[in-house]
Amino acid sequence: MDLRLEVSRRTFLGGMATVLGYLGINPGSHLLAQGNGAARPAQGRPKVEEYDALAKLHFNENPYGPPESVMKAMTQAFKYANRYGYPDGDIVEVIAKLHGVAKENVMLGAGSGEILDVMGATFLPGDKKVLGVEPTYSSVYSFATGIKADAIKIPLLEDYRQDIPAMIRATKKHYREIGFVYLCNPNNPTGRIIPRQEVRQLLDGIPEDVPVLIDEAYHHFVDHSAYATSIPYVAEGRQVIVTRTFSKIAALAGMRLGYAIAPADLIKQMQKHGTGTINALVKWAGVAALKDTQSQAQVKRITLELRRKTTAELEGMGYQVIPSEANFFMVHVRRPVGPVADEFKKKKVLVGRPFPPMTEHLRVSVGNPDEMRRFMTAFKEIMAAPASS
Ligand SMILES: Cc1ncc(COP(=O)(O)O)c(C=O)c1O
Repeated sequence: MDLRLEVSRRTFLGGMATVLGYLGINPGSHLLAQGNGAARPAQGRPKVEEYDALAKLHFNENPYGPPESVMKAMTQAFKYANRYGYPDGDIVEVIAKLHGVAKENVMLGAGSGEILDVMGATFLPGDKKVLGVEPTYSSVYSFATGIKADAIKIPLLEDYRQDIPAMIRATKKHYREIGFVYLCNPNNPTGRIIPRQEVRQLLDGIPEDVPVLIDEAYHHFVDHSAYATSIPYVAEGRQVIVTRTFSKIAALAGMRLGYAIAPADLIKQMQKHGTGTINALVKWAGVAALKDTQSQAQVKRITLELRRKTTAELEGMGYQVIPSEANFFMVHVRRPVGPVADEFKKKKVLVGRPFPPMTEHLRVSVGNPDEMRRFMTAFKEIMAAPASS
């Protein structure tokens, strides 16, 4: 018996067993008990027992952990831990083939977060600005600020959709100052999509040499017929950079893997700013994850089912929920979110931070069935009490 494989099975496979159990599929005797110990950078680090006891509904992670196929691929790749020039499963070629592009159109990152960072380093020097909506995935703006670049932030529409005509107008007005335009589709934190014709409207409506970063981190959860990936625009020769991550549907947030699909000349410029430090385990994990479409379909099914159930219950209690196409949703709590999130934390449930200017909307990631039960119990107790300031 391979001890490492056995240990990793014990540690990780309970998560996918939960998915299969919830979906009424017999997970098999080799799928063992619960456990998922990933953590995230830039946060105070809790102790293991403390962390494991929390319902983690604050970072839009996949609560089930990687499926067996991915665990096996990572475990087998341990044998390359001492090497530099090891076979890597041809991860770049596999991604290129999946999207019908050349390998020169692909750049790997240690998470798609690294690619967003690289976008700033590549396209914002010389006092250029990033243009996007607010609120959105704000790391894009933090990276820009980190390199002393500025952002032009366009407010969302009243129904929390991204205001594409306003983005076009602002891009044209500030044309020479814009380093790139950022579209998050579906948007984090609202979960709302940009319909495919509005993406086209934006690309057709702005000067064609302005790069547009389209962040598809939550692509795999979308079920809306008006949505489409923007990867085909790359083959059309547009200045479009599409990012994807393995942190969400593929449950590899702690392992760090993402990628960009873009025209070869842009990839070349971007690669100068990347670290290229993707480890052997996660490269093999990525290849296995892309193959295991069945596990991803199961994660999508259970996530959408739990999102529907939880949001229906909240709406039944009279709370408005923004229609989401992602593995999280926003509920209007009608009081400042900061103190509400603190109350949740006291009950060992972590929920999203405030996303100004939407300071009365709580972002909740869709966790596993137990976490969602804990969320609803805490929600009812917290909202029954008067608002604390
Ligand atoms: C919209 C969006 N883009 C990118 C990321 C970065 O993810 P990662 O660096 O784990 O790929 C996140 C993470 O939450 C996100 O929500």
